[in-house]
Amino acid sequence: MNKAVRNAVIAGNWKMNKTRPEAKALIEELKPLVKDADCGVVICVPYTNLETALELTKGSNIKVGAENCHWAKSGAFTGEISADMLAEMGVEYVVIGHSERRQYFGETDVTVNKRVRAALDAGLKVILCVGELLEQREQGITEEICAMQTKVALLGVSEDELKNIIIAYEPVWAIGTGKTATADQANEVNGYIRSVVAKLYGEKAAEALTIQYGGSMNAGNAEELLSKEHVDGGLIGGASLKAPDFATIVAAASK
Ligand code: 13P
Repeated sequence: MNKAVRNAVIAGNWKMNKTRPEAKALIEELKPLVKDADCGVVICVPYTNLETALELTKGSNIKVGAENCHWAKSGAFTGEISADMLAEMGVEYVVIGHSERRQYFGETDVTVNKRVRAALDAGLKVILCVGELLEQREQGITEEICAMQTKVALLGVSEDELKNIIIAYEPVWAIGTGKTATADQANEVNGYIRSVVAKLYGEKAAEALTIQYGGSMNAGNAEELLSKEHVDGGLIGGASLKAPDFATIVAAASK
């Protein structure tokens, strides 16, 4: 397994933050700070900021993503947004299966799989989130949970389509808590997820798959996490809302 064959990607997940003027200010501040990045840079923003983000990042190295999408192409799903709607706007990425969606909005492995399928069919790149709860880690079933979430999410996804998927390992106990997984813990689970993917798609496909870590990654701990063999980038919540902090993480991934 050779880390150098993989693309490092640092993605911000803004969650439910930033009005349009705030989004504009953040993107304007961020652009010059990450322009020389030697890794992928993505900002996943609320639906209401997509147009602003697409407009402001035109001609820059920053790609734009949404934070979720529905599985149907269109129809009676009040309040939802389809993958086609995102693709038509020029959105490139979509986060699917975030633990906050699983925790607060009834997202299951099966609906995650349906959303993944819809996103791929629309030509979007998927940032697929998996990760265990604290109780599950304490019960020693982290691997089982991550394997299950990964396998179900990838049902019906071909080896060719896997190229449009990034997996983000986000231990739920580390999200927004300031409690980061140690670099070794992150590396261990990322490596395990890669072995699960290798069993499904073969070693070569697994070797090429970008697997991020997410959960309290910040300007201070990013370098150590990103130095690990299986940590190919980060999905960043809180620290993505501050341009200098996000840029420091991007710089750490560019080394
Ligand atoms: P924090 O970086 O705020 O812990 O959030 C991580 C996350 O959930 C990214 O999707």
